[in-house]
Amino acid sequence: MKDFIYSYPARVYFGEKAAAKALPVELPKVGKTVMLAYGGGSVKKSGVYDEIFGLLEEAGKEVVDFAGIMPNPTYKKVQEGAALVREKGVDFILAVGGGSVIDCCKIIAAQAVTERDIWEMEFKDHVYPSEFIPMGAIVTASGTGAEMNNGAVITNEDTMEKAGVLGAYAGFAVLDPAYTMSLPAKQVISGAFDTLSHSMETYLGSPRDITLSDEIAEAVMRNVIRNIRILLKDMNNREARSELMWASAMAENGILKIGKVTDFQAHQIEHQLGAYTDCNHGQGLAVIHPALYRHLCKDGAKQFARMARKVWDIPAEGRSEEELALAGVEALADFVREIGMPATFTEMGITDKSVLKKVADTCNLTAGCCKKLSREENLEILEECW
Ligand code: NZQ
Ligand code: ZN
Repeated sequence: MKDFIYSYPARVYFGEKAAAKALPVELPKVGKTVMLAYGGGSVKKSGVYDEIFGLLEEAGKEVVDFAGIMPNPTYKKVQEGAALVREKGVDFILAVGGGSVIDCCKIIAAQAVTERDIWEMEFKDHVYPSEFIPMGAIVTASGTGAEMNNGAVITNEDTMEKAGVLGAYAGFAVLDPAYTMSLPAKQVISGAFDTLSHSMETYLGSPRDITLSDEIAEAVMRNVIRNIRILLKDMNNREARSELMWASAMAENGILKIGKVTDFQAHQIEHQLGAYTDCNHGQGLAVIHPALYRHLCKDGAKQFARMARKVWDIPAEGRSEEELALAGVEALADFVREIGMPATFTEMGITDKSVLKKVADTCNLTAGCCKKLSREENLEILEECW
């Protein structure tokens, strides 16, 4: 295990009526003007907006509305939000939504307090923000775990990059599974697959020898697989939604990463695919993972074989380590089919094949797993996803 420092700055309020428990405790600690940030309107339909607005009014806050944060949030939207924060003198940002809303707010919180352009600051000067407008997160779609870290994935339409930007941590997070009940089945499953992806990309990083973090990751993966299967039979199963909501947070709150160098190659490819096609994150991952892992599993046979045994319950008897590793990857590919996720880019609705080369040429190549891909092999993988 590598040396580490672990600190977690947010309070998590989990469960039924969590917002009604959290906000009366948390809001008195922050200033009067609160920006209520949300997406394209699902919170208005579900009634979550009215509930949160009521709690803000009860706490005597002045509410500044910030609507329309889109899936795959753009850097332009960040700038719009930061300008509004400055104009209205916002003291606190409350993000109500899925990963997109929460991520956008993390960077608004940073951009609003500096004259410097955050993108240039982070990617050109490698300087990271340390001052923020404080924020909280109320989760309505789980999967990304965005509420429990300070990384935000933002699309810069000028540079055609979808990249991880460091921003604010939410000071508190509200996770009420009831808020996810209005989420369409497709998004429930794609969010859960995202959690599975985070766990795999962490597990398959280094060191190669099994650590406590890896054993916890195995438990998270098994939990996600089991609960997706429960939801496929009964999409309204509250217990399964609750389990997936906490699994999502567990995969991205840093605990699985303790003592590890993570991989996240599938994410790097998917993010650039998102930059060029604005595709759904979990779906992109479902297509990329099996193809990528068919290329990596021979070099990382020990870890892949362990994942096959521990996560997919594939018996080792009669198989070499490499065969076992590949059998685990095929079990993942079968699972993608079983849960009705797309297995090719065409099934995702992507029609322009020329994006593949652009993605292959521009995505980051990581060395976290067993080998670093060449641009050529990266393109091969993307073509196998077609
Ligand atoms: O915009 P609204 O109308 O709210 O609709 C959203 C959106 O269309 C809808 N939705 C959310 N909660 C709902 C609901 N619909 C009905 N009922 C509800 N309760 O769901 C759609 C998708 O929302 P979005 O926030 O985009 O989904 P998700 O949570 O999957 O977030 C995806 C974004 O997070 C990034 C992804 O790249 C993508 O940009 N990620 C962030 C990470 C992080 N910060 O740690 C890690 C991930 O790997 C990921 O990259
Ligand atoms: Zn993800």
